Order: sequence, then C-alpha cells, then structure tokens
Amino acid sequence: MQEQPENDLETYQDEALATLALATDEKGIEAWYRKHLAPSGTMNQWRKRIGAQPAEQRKAFGARVNTAATALATAFETQKRAVAALELERSIARQSVDVTLPGRSLTSGGYHPVTTIIREVERVFHEMGFLTFESPHAELDEFNFELLNMPADHPARDMQDTFYLSDRTVLRTHTSAGQVRAMRIYAPHPVRVILPGLCYRHENITLRSEIQFHQIEGLLVGKSVRLSDLKGVLLSFARKMFGREQRIRMRGSYFPFTEPSVEVDIRCTLCGGAGCRVCKHSGWLELLGAGLVHPVVLANGGYDPREVRGIAFGMGIERMVMLLHGIDDIRHFFQNDLRFLRQFRS
Ligand code: PHE
Repeated sequence: MQEQPENDLETYQDEALATLALATDEKGIEAWYRKHLAPSGTMNQWRKRIGAQPAEQRKAFGARVNTAATALATAFETQKRAVAALELERSIARQSVDVTLPGRSLTSGGYHPVTTIIREVERVFHEMGFLTFESPHAELDEFNFELLNMPADHPARDMQDTFYLSDRTVLRTHTSAGQVRAMRIYAPHPVRVILPGLCYRHENITLRSEIQFHQIEGLLVGKSVRLSDLKGVLLSFARKMFGREQRIRMRGSYFPFTEPSVEVDIRCTLCGGAGCRVCKHSGWLELLGAGLVHPVVLANGGYDPREVRGIAFGMGIERMVMLLHGIDDIRHFFQNDLRFLRQFRS
C-alpha cells in the first residue's frame, strides 16, 4: 500500500466498486466492509496519506480521497440493502413457502357420535329440569358398591368385572356410583340430576362389549315421587329422542340399589315393532335399567326414606348409538378410525 502511487486512487476505487458488486450475500458484504471501509480498512490508509503529501497537493488529494470514500460508502449502503432483500427471498425459499400458491381449504372436524348423543340426551333432560352432575371415574369402592346396597359378596364386585386401582378404589363400573355423591350434596332437599360419563369393566372385548363405555344416569328424589313418575319421565324422554309415536314398556328386573327394579324397552327403531333381526323379532329393544331408589341407598345419601322417595335410571350410550345407526360392532367407537367417524360428521 505504501508504495502505491497517489494517482492510483481512482483505480483502487473502480476495483473496490467492482468487487462490491460481487458481494451478494451477508458474509461477502461484511468481508468487503472490513477490507475497505472499516477503521482498519484501505480507505483509512488513503486518508492517512493525505498528511504526507507536499503542501500544495494536500488539499486536492484530500478532496479526491473524500470523493472516493463517499462513493464507496454510498455504493456499500445500496448493496447492503440489495443483499438484505436477497437474503429474505432465500430464507423464504428455504422454508419452501410459495406465497403465490392458492391457499388450502380448511377441513372441518365433527363430533364423535357418542358425544352427539350424550349432548342430545342431556338437552332432553335439561328441558325437564335435570341438572348435569359430574362424579369421579376413579371411585371409592364405597360409592361404586357398598353404599349402593351391594354386599361384599355380590357377583358384580367380582374381580372379573371390576378394575381395582387399590383395595379401596376402582374405576367406576357404572354411573350409579355418583348417586350417593349427588344425594349427599342435595339432602335433605329434592334432587334432579343426570350423571353422564365413561364407565369401565374388566371384560373381554367383543362385538358387544368393551372395557370402557358411556352411561347416563338419572336420579330424582323428592317427597311425592312415585313409580309412575319414572314411567312419565322415560316416556317423554323416549318420545323426544326417538319420535312422537314412540312407546315404552317396563319389565320386572333386579338391581341391588333399586326396589322395585325394572328394565325399560322401546319399540324397535328399525322395524317399528313388526319384528326384525336387530330386535330378535320381539319388536322391542332394551333401553335401560331403572327403579325406585332403595330405602337403604336413600338413607346412605342422607335422606329419611320415610319422608322421600326416588327414581333412578341408567342407560348405555354406545348401545343407543348402535341402535340408532344400525352399527353392529361396539369396538368402532374407540378405534378412532376416520372412515367410521366421518360418517357422523354433520
Ligand atoms: N347401574 C345399572 C347398570 O349399570 C343401571 C341402573 C341405574 C339400574 C340406575 C337401576 C337404576 O346396569
């Protein structure tokens, strides 16, 4: 540098501008800046030589150095902006986002058929003044069995049927487990609740049985409650759910926590009662279990069984969806196969 003649300044400037045009990325532009314009760069070395000029040439040389410095600085700023724009384009290309492509249309989801039915059943009972009451899935043996008048040796407590979490806790085997919990919140006042949710049973998974399934429980306790209220509530439910002409029938049955106990059937939704494969030619479909709440259970809930009576019922949701849609395999409900689920998208 020192031995470079002063009249080479313009040559240097031309060459520097020429190499600047070749700096087309961030690294290149930084390297160019360090070489030419940074404090340790060539431009400053030219400036230092101003003082070494003979007095009469000093001013003119100084002016030429300034002109060159300005030209380089201006060109540098312009190139820097161009490179920044280029880098942005490159990073967009790297993300492989083509902003000129037409957008993809959104696919909309849908509710699981079980969710849809639960909501429908809830709506019908809410209209009749029932409130939704949630109770735990992991439940004390006490609430799932004991307080529901199920003695320790009752077959329903058999290890085959129940998932035990510990000696005292189970995965609830039915939503009836929430009955006493609800009563203890409301007693001695009347209660009118539905309890929806998952239940669990230790069973072999087959066409008809799963280890998990949904139930909706209903519970109504009050001073003048009678068996005919059970029939009235369930008939209006069946008509709102399955059609105005729907009929129901009650058959005697047995549950430890209701007395009397009944099983409630509806007219076959497929053949209308004429008899078909689904109703096994009886014309009727079994819908739910129900009864008058057993006095022992009322007492466990904090009521005086001489003062009040209660009705209770519990229905299986998957079973109801199967009847409504002619589905023959309960396992579909928990496999999350989109080909199955898409059929219910509304
Ligand atoms: N919990 C019973 C079942 O799972 C159904 C039921 C509920 C029966 C309420 C009577 C009263 O089969």
